[in-house]
Amino acid sequence: MALMPDIQSIVILTGAGISAESGIDTFRSAGGLWEQHKVEDVATPEGFARDPDLVLGFYDMRREALSKVEPNPAHRALAKLEREFAGELLLVTQNVDDLHERGGVEDVLHMHGQLKSALCLSCEIRSPWDRTMFDRPPCPVCKAPSLRPDVVWFGEMPYQMDRIYASLLTADLFVSIGTSGAVYPAAGFVQEARAAGAKTLELNLEPSEGSHHFHEARHGPAGDLVPQWVDEVLGGETG
Ligand code: OAD
Repeated sequence: MALMPDIQSIVILTGAGISAESGIDTFRSAGGLWEQHKVEDVATPEGFARDPDLVLGFYDMRREALSKVEPNPAHRALAKLEREFAGELLLVTQNVDDLHERGGVEDVLHMHGQLKSALCLSCEIRSPWDRTMFDRPPCPVCKAPSLRPDVVWFGEMPYQMDRIYASLLTADLFVSIGTSGAVYPAAGFVQEARAAGAKTLELNLEPSEGSHHFHEARHGPAGDLVPQWVDEVLGGETG
């Protein structure tokens, strides 16, 4: 396929759609998380200041739900790509779940943070976390009862943007998987990569808001599209 030859460097961006077949609600689908909850209540610093119990309980519930889901073939296919692709690969996810890691990926950049991480508002140190926060447990480092979910809220800066933009500038191929293209800066990555000369591919259930920015778009469930695409990349390498 036209996108495959001479690919040395790939940047992949994933969103909630890659975890949908595992049973995690996406944000903007009918009945999705942002229909069940108001964004400004549970995903902003102001909402947290107003009602910390509500916010801590919301993320406790989402963290707890991770124990009931498993990675799907799309997560596993990206782990296979990481193991077998000979070139440079940066996997960036907007997801705060741990399904890429549990699917076997070694290195994933969580630009919107992680449910299984706590950020202490006193000492500002992050700690691995798999319990609740609504009961105000002490920070493992400084012991202050000042933990918040280590997730990026609206109005806050996503993590490791310098590393992401540096990779977008040198990528031969940018692939967006299971994201609506509704939230910046992630929604702008396709244009950054394309302007710097990368080929661009969308793999999503349906055309995203930014679908027209991609050289190629394939539509269907990630559990089908991603393993198929990974086999093309790896087959193209060895074939
Ligand atoms: P969205 O809920 O906005 O979009 C999910 C996308 O996945 C949609 O385009 C769906 O069509 C697609 N999709 C659903 N099921 C799929 C499947 N089985 N296979 C492939 N695609 C599927 O979620 P995100 O784009 O991840 O940020 O949302 C971006 C950010 O908005 C999130 O990280 C979160 C949210 O507000 C913060 O909380 C800061």
